[in-house]
This record gives sequence, C-alpha cells and structure tokens, in this order.
Amino acid sequence: MTYEAAADIGIGSKASIAKSAVLERSAVIDLDAVRHNVRQFVGIASPAAVMAVVKADAYGHGAVQVARAALDAGAAWLGVAHISEALALRAAGVDAPLLAWLHTRESNFQAAVAAGIDVGISGWELEAVVAAAREQERPARVHLKVDTGLGRNGCTIADWDQLLGQAMEYQDQGLLRVVGIFSHLAVADEPQRPETDDQLAVFREAIAMAEDAGVDTEVRHIANTPAALSRPDSHFDLVRVGLGIYGLSPFDGATSAELGLHPAMTVRTLLSNCKKVPEGQGVSYGLNYRTSQESTLGLVPLGYADGVPRIATGGPVRVDGINYPVVGRIAMDQMVIDLGPLSPEAAANLKGAEAVMFGNGADGGPTADDWAAAAGTNNYEIVTRISPRVPRSYVNELPARVEVNNAADTAAL
Ligand SMILES: Cc1ncc(COP(=O)(O)O)c(C=O)c1O
Repeated sequence: MTYEAAADIGIGSKASIAKSAVLERSAVIDLDAVRHNVRQFVGIASPAAVMAVVKADAYGHGAVQVARAALDAGAAWLGVAHISEALALRAAGVDAPLLAWLHTRESNFQAAVAAGIDVGISGWELEAVVAAAREQERPARVHLKVDTGLGRNGCTIADWDQLLGQAMEYQDQGLLRVVGIFSHLAVADEPQRPETDDQLAVFREAIAMAEDAGVDTEVRHIANTPAALSRPDSHFDLVRVGLGIYGLSPFDGATSAELGLHPAMTVRTLLSNCKKVPEGQGVSYGLNYRTSQESTLGLVPLGYADGVPRIATGGPVRVDGINYPVVGRIAMDQMVIDLGPLSPEAAANLKGAEAVMFGNGADGGPTADDWAAAAGTNNYEIVTRISPRVPRSYVNELPARVEVNNAADTAAL
C-alpha cells in the first residue's frame, strides 16, 4: 500500500485526507521546470535527439509524470535501467520509444518484446532476448552496448566483433533488429579529464566495426547530461539526459542557474514544534549539539526515513525567509534547527510555519546541491533518495483540456 493509499483509509472524504497528507510533507515537482529543461537539451543536442532518462522513478520525481512532460517538451525517447520500470511506463499508457539497459536472468524479456521495449544488450542477454522473440513471434528491438572504459556493463571491445556477428545472424533470421549502438561515460562530469577522449575514440572504433559487420543503426548514443552540455562531439544521434532534465548541475563548478536549468523538486514540510530552551540545551540523540545561549528550537518532521541523509547535519532548512543549519543528529523522522533567541510571539508564530529542505534556490533558499555538500554526496543521490513516505505532488501539469485540443488539432490536419 502506498502512503497516499493509506491516507485514503479512515474518516472523512478521501480527497481531504489525501490532500492533508500532501500538505503536511511533500516533494512538489514543477513540471514546467521539467519541460523547460528538456527544451534546453533539445536545443543543445539538435540535430541529435533527446532520451529522457526516467529510471529510479525519474530520480525520485515520478516516472510517469516526468515522462509525459518530457515527451511533451520534445524528448523523442525514454530510458530506464530495468525492464520492470519500462513495463510500468507502458502500463500507464506511455508508448514512446523506450530503452531498458540493466538486466538479470530473472528480467522479463518476454514482456519487454511483447510491449515493444528496446533492450540493451551487453552479451549474454542476446540469447534470452532471441528466445523471447521466438516465443512472442515478434522481432526484438536491441541496442548493443560496448564498454568503452567505464568497466561496468557493456561488451568489451575484444568480444565486440563476435557479438556483432551473432546479432547480425539473428537479424538476418528476422528475430531482432539492431536499433542502436551505445556506451556510457565515466568522467564526463570532470571535463578536464582525458578519459572521455579515450572513450569516444573507442566508441568510434566500435561504430566502425559495426558498420563493417553490416549493422545499420537508427541511433548511436553515449552522452549523459555532462557530456550533452560540454562535449558536442559526443552527441552522435541521441543524448541520454537524466540529471539535467530535473534541473540539476552535473558539474562541481557550475550551478543550475549558470547552466540555464530550473531545479524541479521542492521538498517542504511544516514545523512540528518551536520552543524556547535554555543555554546549554542538548539536541537530539547523542546530545552532540548544545545551544550556546537561550534559544528557540524548530522541529522539522523529516528524517532519514524520508530520505534525508543521516550524515548531513549542517544541511540548511529555510523557515520564514532564513536558512538555518540542522543541528544535532538527524533521526529517523525528524531533525532540529536552532532558530536563535526569539520573542515568545515570534516563536509562537513559527509553530506550523513552512520549512523548506530544498527547492530551486531562486529565493536564496536551500538547494539539493547544499544537501549534497552537507552529506558528502552528489545531487543525484539527494533527489533520488527522497522516500515514498514523502508524497509527490505536481504543479504545472498540462491540463487534460489542452491534450484534448491537441488531439482535435491533429485530427483536423
Ligand atoms: C546508461 C545511462 N545513460 C544515461 C544516464 C543519465 O545520466 P545523467 O543523469 O548524468 O544524465 C544514466 C544514469 O546514470 C545511465 O545509467
């Protein structure tokens, strides 16, 4: 059962109960921001196409909603890690070209072939996909993956010729179509490093070998967000963009704003408590923090069960236009900010005030980058780890009416 579903059980109208769960604590996703970011990448990548990477529930933003917004803004493809993620998109009615690239022997290749999901192939998967194609009496759509240096998935260049030969044999038998050739970059977020040049050279070699083997692909792709932004020579026919469509920067030295991107997720809640304490008050498990003066403590009802990293003490929370660092240990459900010496009236006013963990930063508020710094991690992890206990809510969803109008326009053409 989802947390939203649980909120639907009980007294009162379903709508009001579900709404209060969202207001209490939510990750608000601005789909206008997603559309803006996708348009930026469509412009940067052109004439190459854009694949919106929506794995891991669209890095925590909600795969179906983000997929629809991204397609609306010009993305031509969708990408996920698991076939199960791709099937969930198909079940929601998303019928765009869709690639899944990380499999095990338990992956449902049959369902993937039946649902017209493209499958990334590093080697052993070829036989499994061909078996599924035979069973389904439908050719599989595959993208052959070459390891150009990342050392994870992908066929080594030493075995590449053999994989190409096998794939072409199956293509000749009508069991599959080699739609794409792809690879993944290791250090594109550090543009000064030489290994990206080396990987691109291996990728070009792999493409040349594929052409020699008679492969005629629709798409060759290797670029992720940082490469899409910094390496036009990596764009080929398609760029696979994840982080950037969520409005986040992949570079240590550049903010979202400097890249023209709009962060799409805001995590916010309401203060649970706000109370005056004496000087020397210990805060949270371990009593690692003590107030240096008579002060006011604000209780933020978000903790590591909500996806706040436990290690990120010092991360900022914005209340009433001011960013306060979290003090003391972050617990499972809550964390504390020291609001300083406040008048009893000011403290009373802040009880129940909105507390923003991170958002787009436009008002000087905290960002996912700030929390990444506090946790010693990257912004990818901060947004992706926001847990299902934090209900997602969406702003700037395209109204259904517009979609109907578009359909009518199309029908009239
Ligand atoms: C194979 C593959 N392509 C593309 C991406 C998107 O990367 P980014 O979020 O940096 O755009 C990922 C994400 O890790 C990936 O695993």
